[in-house]
Amino acid sequence: MSFLIVSSQRDPKAWIEAIKDQNPEIDLEVYPEVRDPEKVEFALSWKHPHGIYKNYPNLKVIASMGAGIDHIIEDPDIPEHVKITRVIDEQLTKDMSVFVLSLILEHLRNLSFHYSSKEWKPVKYLRPTEVQVGIMGMGVLGVGVAEKLIQNKFNVTGWSRTQKEILGVTTYHGDEQLQDFLEASQILVCLLPLTSETENILNKRLFEKLPKNAYVINVARGPHLVEEDLLEMIERGHLSGAALDVFRTEPLPKDHPFWNNQKIKITPHVASVTYPATVAPQILENYRRMQEGKELKNVVDREKEY
Ligand code: OXD
Repeated sequence: MSFLIVSSQRDPKAWIEAIKDQNPEIDLEVYPEVRDPEKVEFALSWKHPHGIYKNYPNLKVIASMGAGIDHIIEDPDIPEHVKITRVIDEQLTKDMSVFVLSLILEHLRNLSFHYSSKEWKPVKYLRPTEVQVGIMGMGVLGVGVAEKLIQNKFNVTGWSRTQKEILGVTTYHGDEQLQDFLEASQILVCLLPLTSETENILNKRLFEKLPKNAYVINVARGPHLVEEDLLEMIERGHLSGAALDVFRTEPLPKDHPFWNNQKIKITPHVASVTYPATVAPQILENYRRMQEGKELKNVVDREKEY
C-alpha cells in the first residue's frame, strides 16, 4: 500500500516533508515518477493532470490539498468508487476571515485611492454599522467570515442552497430568496463551492439585482464569475468595483483587461493558503482510517459536488 502525492502548480517538497515528519515509515510516491502504480491506494492531490487516476487500479481515496475539490471532480475519469476528501482547517478559516475583512476595510476606507492619488484629498467613508455585507455560500469558510464581520460590527446576511441558521446572520436560501438577499447586499462576497450549478453565477443578471455602487469580492473560484459581465457593470457605473483573488486562468494572463482596470483589485489566490505542516495530521488520519476500513473525515458528497 502506498501514498501518492500529485502536486501541480504547488511545490510538493513541503508536503513530502510534512507527511514524512508525521509518518517516517510511509511508502511515498511522488507523481510523475511512480514506481508501482498498483500499490497506490491514497492520493494527496492538487490540480492533477486529468485522466491520470485511471492508472491506479487500487486507488481508494483522493484527498484535496485544499478546501476546494472542484479541481478533482472536474475530471470525468475519477472512478465512481473513489472517495474524495477536502481540508477543513481552523487556520484556513481564520486566514480567509481576516483576508475578506481586510478587503472590505480597504474598500470602505478608500485606501488604494489615497495611496495612489498623491493628493491631499479626504473622501467620505462608510462605517461597518452602515454597511450590509452579503455572503454567498455559508459553509465553514462563509460562516467564519460572517463571524469575523459581525465581531467588527458589520451587518451580515448569508445565502446558501439550503436553509441555515447562523447566530447573528440573517439567512436566505434557494433561488426564491436570492433576489431579496442581493437587493440588500452593498458588498457581495462569493464563497460558494464551484459546482455545475454555481459556475457563472456572478453574472450580469445577478449584478443588476445588487444595489447601485455595490462592491463584489470573489475569493471562491474564478469560474463563478462571468468576467465580461463584471467589466460591463463596472463600466456602466452600477458596480463600484471588485476585489478578486481567483481567476478562470491562474496566473492571470499579463494581457488580461482586469490588470488595467483601476476599480478591480487583484490578488494572486492568496486569501487562505494551506500549510502542509498544519494539515498533514488530518490527511494522515484519513490514510490510517482507510487502512483500518473506518469512515473517513471531511468526505465530499459527489452528487452535490462539495
Ligand atoms: C483551496 C484553495 O481550495 O487554496 O484551499 O483555493
